[in-house]
Amino acid sequence: MLYFSPLELILKAKQEKVALGSFNVFNNEMFHAVTIAALKKKSPVIIATGEVDIQYFPPELAVSLMKIYSKKFDIPFLLHLDHCTQVELAEKCLRCGYSSIMFDGSQLPYEENVEKTRSVVKIAQWFGVPVEGELGVILGTREFFESTTQKDDQLKITDPEAARDFVLRTGIHTLAPSIGSAHGVYVKKPKIHFDILKRISKATKIPLVLHGGSGIPVEDVHRCIEEGVAKVNVGTDLRRTLVDTIVHEGVNPYVEARTVMEKSRDAIVTVVENWLDILKSSIILQ
Ligand code: 13P
Repeated sequence: MLYFSPLELILKAKQEKVALGSFNVFNNEMFHAVTIAALKKKSPVIIATGEVDIQYFPPELAVSLMKIYSKKFDIPFLLHLDHCTQVELAEKCLRCGYSSIMFDGSQLPYEENVEKTRSVVKIAQWFGVPVEGELGVILGTREFFESTTQKDDQLKITDPEAARDFVLRTGIHTLAPSIGSAHGVYVKKPKIHFDILKRISKATKIPLVLHGGSGIPVEDVHRCIEEGVAKVNVGTDLRRTLVDTIVHEGVNPYVEARTVMEKSRDAIVTVVENWLDILKSSIILQ
C-alpha cells in the first residue's frame, strides 16, 4: 500500500485547492463501497465512523476492515473517528489503529473545549495522528431550520478571532467551523457564510473541514474549497442511498437479501465516485 501521512494528504489537498472526501460508514457494505470508489477514481479517501455509531460498528471491526481492504488496494485510506466527545474513546480508537481523530467539544463551555481538545492533541501526538477540532456548533438540519429565523450568533456561527485563539491554544491540525452547513437532509438551500469562512482561514492558516456535505450545491462546495476547506464530510448521501435501495429492492418478495445488500453497496459506490469527482481529490496522488 502507498504510504502518506494523514496530515501530508490534507496539506497537499489544501495546496492543490481540492478536498479530501470523508465518508461516514457503519457497516461493511458502506465501508467496501468507499474503498471501491476510491480505487476506481485513484483517489485517497477518509473512511469515518462516528461516535454515535460505535455501539453498532465498534472500532475493532472498523480497523479490521481497514487492514483487509488496505492490503487489497494500493490507495491510501484513512480511518477517522468523527464527532468524538469523550477523551477516553479518542484514546481507545488511537490504540486500535485509527489514523485521524475529530474531538468535538463544541457543546462545552469554551475553556473546557480548549482543555479537552488540547489533551486529545497531546495523546494523538504519541501516535503521530492529526486532530480535528470544532468551534461554533454545527447543528443537525432539523434544529438548524428551526433556527433560521434567529440571529447568526444563536446559530453559533464561528467567530474568526475565537478560531485563531482556539487553534493556537489546542494545537489542532484541522478545524471544523460552523459556517451555515448542517448535518442531515436540507429542506431548503443552506446559506454558507463564505466571508466568515475566508476570515477563519486567514486567521487560523490551517486546513478547514466542511461538515454536512450532503445536499450542499456543487458550486458552493467549490467556493468553500477556494476559501480554505480541504476536507468535506459526507454521511447522509450514503445512508439515504442504502435505505432507498433496500426499500426499492425489498418490494420484490422473492429477492435474495444478499442481492439487496450488493445493490446497495454498488449504489453507494456511484454516490462516492460522484463526490470524488466533485472534490477532485485524485489530483492529490498525481
Ligand atoms: P451529512 O450527513 O449531512 O453529509 O454530514 C456528514 C458530516 O458532516 C459528518 O461529520
